[in-house]
Amino acid sequence: MSGCPYFQRKFVSTSKQNPKEDESDDSQTGINKASKGGLIYGDYLQLDKIVTSQVLQSELKGNKIHDEHLFIVTHQAYELWFKQVLWELDSVREIFISGHVRDERNMLKVNTRINRIVMIFRLLLDQFAVLETMTALDFYDFREYLSPASGFQSLQFRLLENKIGVPHNQRVPYNRRHYRDNFRDQESEQLLHSEQAPTMLQLVEQWLERTPGLEEDGFNFWGKLETNIFEGLRREKEKIEQKPASEIKEEMMAELIKQRDIFLSLFDEKRHDHLVSTGQRRLSYKALQGALMIYFYREEPRFQVPFQLLTSLMDIDTLMTKWRYNHVCMVHRMIGSKGGTGGSSGYQYLRSTVSDRYKVFVDLFNLATFLVPREWVPKLDPSEYTFLYMAECCDSSYCSSSDDSD
Ligand code: HEM
Repeated sequence: MSGCPYFQRKFVSTSKQNPKEDESDDSQTGINKASKGGLIYGDYLQLDKIVTSQVLQSELKGNKIHDEHLFIVTHQAYELWFKQVLWELDSVREIFISGHVRDERNMLKVNTRINRIVMIFRLLLDQFAVLETMTALDFYDFREYLSPASGFQSLQFRLLENKIGVPHNQRVPYNRRHYRDNFRDQESEQLLHSEQAPTMLQLVEQWLERTPGLEEDGFNFWGKLETNIFEGLRREKEKIEQKPASEIKEEMMAELIKQRDIFLSLFDEKRHDHLVSTGQRRLSYKALQGALMIYFYREEPRFQVPFQLLTSLMDIDTLMTKWRYNHVCMVHRMIGSKGGTGGSSGYQYLRSTVSDRYKVFVDLFNLATFLVPREWVPKLDPSEYTFLYMAECCDSSYCSSSDDSD
C-alpha cells in the first residue's frame, strides 16, 4: 500500500509507461522518512486532539446513546467550517482596511475568497441532511444531557454575523437578554470588539462610494440618470394619454404613477436617510449610487469584477438565510414547539430570524426595483468610456453593440 502522495517528496507516477518507476521504493519515501522522525499526517493535522474530542455526555452519565456521536461530530464539522469562513472573511476585510483594494489587481483575491465562502455555505446547507437521519426520539434520548448548552452560544457564528455586518439593534430579542450575555467574559469582549471593528458592509460601502463616474463634476451618473428616468417616464405618460379611454389605459396610468413614486423615493436623499435610520436600508446614499452604477454598467470591463463581488455578497446573504431556514426546519422536526436548551422559545424564536433583519446586503437585493430600460441608462461619454475600458483592449464592434446585448 502506498502512502498519501501529499507527504511524499517525489512525484509518484501512475502511468505504466515506465514499469521500473512503479516498482521502485520511491512511493514509500514519505512513510519511511516519517518513521525516522519526519512530519507525519496525524501530527500535521493534530488528529490526536480532533478525533478524541467526541465526549458523549450520555456515556459519562452511564447511558451511552449511539446518535450523540453524530450530533457532536456534526456540530464540530460546522464549527471548523465557520473557522475557515472567518479566516477568509478576515483576510478580505484586511485587504479593504489596509487600502490594498485600491489596487484593482487585488480584487481577484477578494472575489476568489468571497466566492470560497459562498461554496462553504453551500456545503453547510447540505450537511443538515446527515443530522436529519437521527429521529426526534433518538435525539430525545440524550437531549437532557446537553442542557443548558445551545447553538446560541456559538461564538464563531456570532463573530461571523458581526463581521459581515448584522446590526445588533436588528437582532431578534432572545429571552430578554443581550445576546452577548450568553457568553463568558473573554468571549463577550471578543464579540464587542467584532461589533466595533469595520464590518464587511461598512468596507464595501466605502468602496462603493468611490465608484468612478459618480463625481458630479465628472460623468455625474446620478444626475444624468435622474434626468433620463423622469424624461423616460414623461414620454411613457404621453404615450398612454394618446390611447383611447379603457380599463387597460387606467391600469397603465396607475402603474406609471407607482413607478414614478418609486423613482421619486430613489432620488430623495432625505427619504433614503430615514430608511437607513429605521434599518430598512443599510448603505449610504452615495454607496447605493455606486452599486446601481455597477449594476447598469456590469458588462463594461471596469465593472465586471465589482459586479461579481456584489453578486457573491448577495449569495452569502441568501445562503445564510437558507442556513437559518434549514436549521429551523430541522429544529421543528426534532423538538416540535418545545423551548430550546438555551432558554429561547426554540422554533418560534428561530423562525423569526429567517428575515430581512439579518440580510446585511439587503440594498443590493432591492436594486432590482430600480432597474430601467437600457435606453434610459446614461450613455458613457468617450473619455469615460476609454477609462472604463482600460482593463482590456477595446474592440469597437463590442463597444457599439454592448448597449443592446443582454
Ligand atoms: C438536533 C439538532 C439541533 C437542534 C434541536 C437545535 C436547536 C436549537 C435551538 C432550539 C436554538 C435556539 C436557541 C436555544 O434556545 O437553544 C438553536 C440555535 C442555534 N443553533 Fe441549533 N440545533 C440543532 C443543530 C444545530 C447545528 C448542527 C448547528 C451548527 C453549528 C447549530 C447551530 C445553532 C446556532 C448558530 C444557533 C443560534 C441561532 C440564532 O440565534 O440565530 N444547531 N438551535
